[in-house]
Amino acid sequence: MQTRSGPDPRAAFFDARAANWEAHCYPPPVREKLAPLIASFALPAGGTVLDMGTGPGTLLPYLRAALGPGGRVFPFDLSLEMLRQARRKLGPADPPPVLATAMRLPFRGESFDAVVCFAAFPHFEDQGRALAEMARVARPGAAVIIAHLLCRAELLAHHGGHGAVARDTLPEEDRMRELFRLAGLPDPDMVDAPGRYLAVCRKPAGTPGGRA
Ligand SMILES: C[S@@+](CC[C@H](N)C(=O)[O-])C[C@H]1O[C@@H](n2cnc3c(N)ncnc32)[C@H](O)[C@@H]1O
Repeated sequence: MQTRSGPDPRAAFFDARAANWEAHCYPPPVREKLAPLIASFALPAGGTVLDMGTGPGTLLPYLRAALGPGGRVFPFDLSLEMLRQARRKLGPADPPPVLATAMRLPFRGESFDAVVCFAAFPHFEDQGRALAEMARVARPGAAVIIAHLLCRAELLAHHGGHGAVARDTLPEEDRMRELFRLAGLPDPDMVDAPGRYLAVCRKPAGTPGGRA
């Protein structure tokens, strides 16, 4: 693993919070929402999933459980300290955590059966580029999923006043649909209601942006 977080100021923000992230953000009433959320993704048994902005690996046990035997989850993040936390959840057979930015994924095209971006998309500096990268690494038929346990308005209020992420937000609905279109993806199914945000589609066969 590399030894320094990148220059994006969000890296330092998340480095500083990594050790207490899960205790702070996932108390039991929030944590109990994770398994049903992941179940709703209907991930393919034994599949290979990319966990975008894995943080301390919050989703790793849930994704692994959903995939079952033979399933593999690839975690990456911008923050080295977050990855140090995530590493504690990995066994010797698990793919190692990767220090990388969502805007330039170090994976070959068409590598994943699902690309899951949970509680991270608002923080990507160039959201169009990040979504294009998600589309590129998804296999034909793979689900491309952006998900939160807060709606767009709740997230805006949640991030406000928090230094480097104060202005990080989800795009408005029309803009999110446009980002999917520009990434070569179909129009996503979207939910934006209290306690839930989802933008989900399946990459069709023949989508440009194949192997890197
Ligand atoms: C709000 S935290 C959520 C982490 C984790 N998904 C969770 O739910 O606990 C957002 C994560 O996205 C990461 N992140 C922010 N910008 C990123 C980027 N450009 N590329 C990769 N990860 C990024 C942060 O370092 C942080 O770990």
